[in-house]
Amino acid sequence: MTNLNCESPLIAPKEQPRNLRIYDSFDRPLRDLRISVIDQCNFRCVYCMPQNQRIEHYTFLKQDQWLTFPQIERLARLFVKLGVGKIRITGGEPLLRPNLSNLVGKLKGIPEVKDLALTTNGSMLIQHAQALKDAGLDRITVSLDTLDPALFRQINGFRGTLEKVLDGIQLCQKIGFGCIKINVVLQKNIGHRHILDLVRYFKGRKPILRFIEYMDAGNCNHWSPDAVVPASEIVKLIHEHFPLRAVRSNYYGEVASRYEFLDGEGEIGFITPITQPFCRTCTRARVSADGKMYPCLFANHGTDLRPFLRQDIPDDVLLNIIQSDWRNRKDRYSELRAKSLSSQKSLPKIEMFQIGG
Ligand code: GTP
Ligand code: 5AD
Ligand code: SF4
Ligand code: SF4
Repeated sequence: MTNLNCESPLIAPKEQPRNLRIYDSFDRPLRDLRISVIDQCNFRCVYCMPQNQRIEHYTFLKQDQWLTFPQIERLARLFVKLGVGKIRITGGEPLLRPNLSNLVGKLKGIPEVKDLALTTNGSMLIQHAQALKDAGLDRITVSLDTLDPALFRQINGFRGTLEKVLDGIQLCQKIGFGCIKINVVLQKNIGHRHILDLVRYFKGRKPILRFIEYMDAGNCNHWSPDAVVPASEIVKLIHEHFPLRAVRSNYYGEVASRYEFLDGEGEIGFITPITQPFCRTCTRARVSADGKMYPCLFANHGTDLRPFLRQDIPDDVLLNIIQSDWRNRKDRYSELRAKSLSSQKSLPKIEMFQIGG
């Protein structure tokens, strides 16, 4: 099989010193930190930030509301004390944040950070990939839903071009990013041909495709259960054309179910928050660009850490806040939604572009 070099470098649970781990109310350890560095995006994807009334009335954060890089680094150093070994930088579109590679360098300088990844729409990779690599970024995940240039623009609100994204991915491969993943959101109206085209294109190359079930994230995408394509349908479709077999997870809590091609030409993954939720092993804390800590992708409230990031407030105070937040965590939105089969309509949820997926 092609060496995809995507095995997680994370310390296995047994090897982590016990006193560094904290658990929530469902006994889930804190392992990953996902940091959004900006809520703005140059795309307007139909499932995330569709151009509609709600988006027009949304007020993006002002620059002085963003956590500074030293503040983010300080937070990251505290989270690693509590067991985090994996950090993902997200947005909106994180490459819109000026000088992002400086932050990458700082986070990579934390010895306990074994895995530093970035999620991007890929449109600006050409300009930034080399600096990110030089600064020590381990992995890149690119959101890309189709190889059809017209459909690509239709999905992302007529912004950017497919060519730029594909060139960006190629450049990442060329300059040596060992593990590149491509996230594809499954949408009902998109024909099987487009899915098979993606598989054909990436099969045997380094990037790993992952198909994600469309979620009721945020408040503006008009999600309904009818719009969901169950991943099992797509596994079947792909298997008919390119035979597959299921393989083991790389690590505890991996969200994607992995499959490899029987002909040895690599692997693909399926992320099933709707049909097979994975809340039971959810080890992810999320921090928004203005410093709110969210326990779940579907949370409606985050704990504001920014006031405690002032220089005169000691680390212990912040550590206590983070710990008690995690210990009280009871979130399992996808599981509950799966039981009721409808979006849990209560208070407004955080938007996907505020928290980065
Ligand atoms: P690896 O570290 O490469 O295994 O990546 P990952 O799968 O943890 O991260 P990625 O950000 O690529 O996740 C892919 C997509 O899965 C996200 O964009 C979300 O759509 C979805 N996802 C990730 N984490 C969660 C989660 O905790 N809950 C739900 N419901 N969906 C999630
Ligand atoms: N459902 C599933 N995935 C989504 N993403 C954004 N919105 C949704 C949604 N409603 C994914 C994007 C990107 C990541 C940031 O989140 O494809 O990969
Ligand atoms: Fe699309 Fe990602 Fe931008 Fe949302 S944040 S609009 S999913 S590119
Ligand atoms: Fe974690 Fe919430 Fe996603 Fe469940 S729905 S996996 S608790 S982020």
